[in-house]
Amino acid sequence: MDVRCPLGTEDILPEQALVWQKVERAARGVFARYGYGEIRTPIFESTRLFVRSIGETTDIVEKEMYTIGEGDDSLTLRPEATAPVVRAYLQHNLHKTKAFQKLYYIGPMFRHERPQAGRKRQFHQIGVEAIGATDPLLDAEVIHLACRFFDEIGLAGYTVRLNAIGTPESRGAYRDLIKAELSAQADALCPDCRRRLDRNVFRALDCKNRGCIAITRKLPRILDHLPQAERDHFDRVCDALRTAGTDFQEDPYLVRGFDYYTGTVFEVTHGGLGSQDALCGGGRYDNLIADLGGPSLGAVGFAMGVERILMALEATAEAAEGPGLDIYLVCLGDAARLAAFGHCTALRQAGLSADTDYEGRSLKAQMRTANKLRARHVVLLGDNELASGVLKLKNMATSEETELPDVHAVIREIRGRGGEGAGGIDLNP
Ligand code: HAM
Repeated sequence: MDVRCPLGTEDILPEQALVWQKVERAARGVFARYGYGEIRTPIFESTRLFVRSIGETTDIVEKEMYTIGEGDDSLTLRPEATAPVVRAYLQHNLHKTKAFQKLYYIGPMFRHERPQAGRKRQFHQIGVEAIGATDPLLDAEVIHLACRFFDEIGLAGYTVRLNAIGTPESRGAYRDLIKAELSAQADALCPDCRRRLDRNVFRALDCKNRGCIAITRKLPRILDHLPQAERDHFDRVCDALRTAGTDFQEDPYLVRGFDYYTGTVFEVTHGGLGSQDALCGGGRYDNLIADLGGPSLGAVGFAMGVERILMALEATAEAAEGPGLDIYLVCLGDAARLAAFGHCTALRQAGLSADTDYEGRSLKAQMRTANKLRARHVVLLGDNELASGVLKLKNMATSEETELPDVHAVIREIRGRGGEGAGGIDLNP
């Protein structure tokens, strides 16, 4: 029986687990300095909790929850931890004993998404929730805290993007405005955004479709359509971040995939991550505690994805190591060495970085060198290859092999694939 772990999940073996422990230790250390205490909640909760808090028309509730059972008995593997933390806060009457609580959590979350790099079905979050205060300085503290953590683990190259999205009431006028503007151009929107027009028009701002981006980036900014008090709150967050020395970019089109947010929203993105580039997301949710039956209390928090943090660290480490080699020519025998020497010269003259063996070493030793030099391609040259006249170009990332007639075709192929190598952080356990 061939049993593998389910799609979108992964095993973390001991060596890798040591790196996870380092990241978790760093988080616990930073959080303790900022006064956050750990909370652990169950891995599943009543489905109602997530429907009520995240929102019925969100992607998560509509199609990404792992749910078992029906009606009041229905249970769901937690897709996120903000709602469970608020549920625990209320269940244990923390608002009566000490209303202002700074809490953090570390653990697995579950979303039935289409898996891809950086997008898993079981993934891990490290998050904080500061519950019981509406002070904009707390928004700034939480954002600054995320950055402190990234700095502490040596992760460079991240960007903080910040926006304010108002409350369901205060953003009503803006919602009507963008709905009218987008409806007038509905034909040019993607099918998802056409559906969003009626259900959740703000999600259109988050669409990755190029045509939709071109349209939404011409819409008015939400900040210009919020009441003065909410704009003042946002300005104060910005001032406090500047005071803390935390760089950020205002992003007037940043929205988040949950209905509970009010006011400040933010994301931390990283260029080394590809299309799933959010390392961290969060914001203020001043209505959630009351929505779940508690008193009217403000709260703000974030969560970051551990898998993505590790990917970003790896990308940064590769970038710091330098670009690597375009191609390494492995050669076996004198005739092949001469041919490899000729090819290497042609490749270098064409502006590519190439190297080969000058010590007559074994195939295995030459492959080790290719790996050490982080060669993106390898061509093997032996008697058979010379006789056939075909050059087999191996892509080291995918192991895919392409047969090419001569070195000029190899040059064209590598150029066509573009892509410089990527980066100096010790990821060794
Ligand atoms: P979120 O943006 O859905 O926010 O998730 C936070 C982070 O978890 C993302 O930025 C990403 O790094 C990671 N993440 C999310 N989905 C996946 C996935 N399928 N695979 C891998 N990583 C993923 C929340 O969950 C909110 N509860 C954050 C929050 C806390 N807001 C206020 N307090």
